[in-house]
Amino acid sequence: MLRFGPMVDDSSSHSPDTILVAVAWPYANSPLHAGQIAGAYLPADIYARYHRLRGDRTLMVSGSDSHGTPVTVRAEQEGISPLEVFERFHHSFLDTFDRFGISFDLFTSTDTDNHRDVAQDMFLRLLEQGYLYEADQELLYDPKAQRFLPDRYVEGTCPICGFEDARGDQCDNCGSTLDALELINPRSKLSDATPERRTSTHFFLKLSAFTERLQEWVSKQDHWRPAVRNFTLGMLREGLHDRAITRDIGWGVPVPVEGYEEKRIYVWFEAVIGYLSATTEWAASPLNRGGTADDWKAWWEAPSARTVYFQGKDNIPFHTVIWPSMLMGYEGLNLPYDVPANQYVTMSGRKASSSKNWALWMPDYLDRYDPDPLRYVLTVIMPETSDSDFTWEEYVRRNNDELVARWGNLVNRVLTITRRNFEGRVPQPPTQLAPESAALLNTVDDAFPVVGAHIDACRMRPALGEAMRMAQEANRYLDDRAPWAAVKADRDHAAETLFVALNAISGIATLLYPFLPFTSPQTWRLLGLEGELDAAGWSRTPVVPSAPLPEPKPLFRKLDDSIVEEEEARIGQ
Ligand code: MF3
Ligand code: ZN
Repeated sequence: MLRFGPMVDDSSSHSPDTILVAVAWPYANSPLHAGQIAGAYLPADIYARYHRLRGDRTLMVSGSDSHGTPVTVRAEQEGISPLEVFERFHHSFLDTFDRFGISFDLFTSTDTDNHRDVAQDMFLRLLEQGYLYEADQELLYDPKAQRFLPDRYVEGTCPICGFEDARGDQCDNCGSTLDALELINPRSKLSDATPERRTSTHFFLKLSAFTERLQEWVSKQDHWRPAVRNFTLGMLREGLHDRAITRDIGWGVPVPVEGYEEKRIYVWFEAVIGYLSATTEWAASPLNRGGTADDWKAWWEAPSARTVYFQGKDNIPFHTVIWPSMLMGYEGLNLPYDVPANQYVTMSGRKASSSKNWALWMPDYLDRYDPDPLRYVLTVIMPETSDSDFTWEEYVRRNNDELVARWGNLVNRVLTITRRNFEGRVPQPPTQLAPESAALLNTVDDAFPVVGAHIDACRMRPALGEAMRMAQEANRYLDDRAPWAAVKADRDHAAETLFVALNAISGIATLLYPFLPFTSPQTWRLLGLEGELDAAGWSRTPVVPSAPLPEPKPLFRKLDDSIVEEEEARIGQ
């Protein structure tokens, strides 16, 4: 029997995997910028879309990190409550994810009752197991404001480089991580008073107890990125110090122990617990259609489930050391399968900075342009092994040369000629395809396992490169067989070419779907296919001879070079 469908059906030959796509929780204190998207949200989304297409049991979760000093500092600057700051940016995040196609199954926040319960449960369990202990800590206290000062609330001279405006947690001049107690001539950001040292009792996480277990575990993770694995092993070699996990602040998750009413759990300790609490929240909610509240266990307790944590490189220690220690101490929950942390994306050569407004803000971008072109460019430059740079010049060039000229025009050209010459329907194929026709379809079909393996290993750049190479192959095939000329002289020849090209386009649209989730389904509909692309599986869906083809609309807009200057003038304003 003749088959024009894919020769190997990758999706039917595999039993579904269970995969948790865990994405870093953004501080709800500013809108998202393109660097954060390229660092975490976009690779996570590509990964999740691919796994859903394959039929894997995929859950993608995160939420707003609503606590911590980044949020309270902003609230004080604006004279509003931390809750108001968190709510404003939480809505901004949801809107950005919706408009940019970041397909969370649940994007919640750390400000829920469920999160509080799960965080307190983990706190108490670790306490019971002997991994938390109380100890006195010397801290800076503002005598005027009558408050203990978190590190970020203190400024002074950097003990390392002498910079006079160093923050208590970090020096922006030399980049050193600091402890506020080390600052020379410290001053309170709240009152300008000179802080004094006072003692306060806090809970500490006994990280030192996990060094060896972590070493043994991390050294086996051969599939981790070398940068992530080596950084972690380096940290472990130096030995881990116990860390205070409560703070003298009022905004955060309450400490479930008597006498701690005035204190809160440290933001990093509870934020990482969000991965677990978001999963339990999803399982118990109507989003888990037909499921039960216990379904969270599929991701956290089944040994074969994979949990993959997407984030920027500054978050690595929290996901490869602190969170795994907490999980080991809790017992019975899965350790991270992979932590594909990305490097940074700079903006026209400079590090992104919210205070200097040096960033491509997602809400601004989405007000002016379409989502898929930026998804495309950010994937092409995704900082998987080293920092990379976003420029508007490259954005315009890649949009015009690659999305419009190579892919969009291919679709448009084939549909226009077909509609004009074959009564607006998919042409009938011959009984036997010419060798170059069969070869093109084989090439496209063979790209599925290749692109899939790249995505699975979080190599999004080569994955997209391979998918786009298929568009080049299809263009070459068309140029060789020139159906626009053949249509008069040899109608069967043209029919075969267009039939095969439409099939190739169908495959390419699916290959590109994880990267371009807006224009790929559009392409799919233009091919006269029934149903939805995202339900069709990770393989080429054959087009149907005689199916009516709707009138094609361009998938991408050609952009004028003038926007480069226009947009560059906006940065830093
Ligand atoms: N809010 C932190 C940041 O923006 C990231 C928290 S990730 C989590 O850097 F693991 F704690 F959730
Ligand atoms: Zn310094």
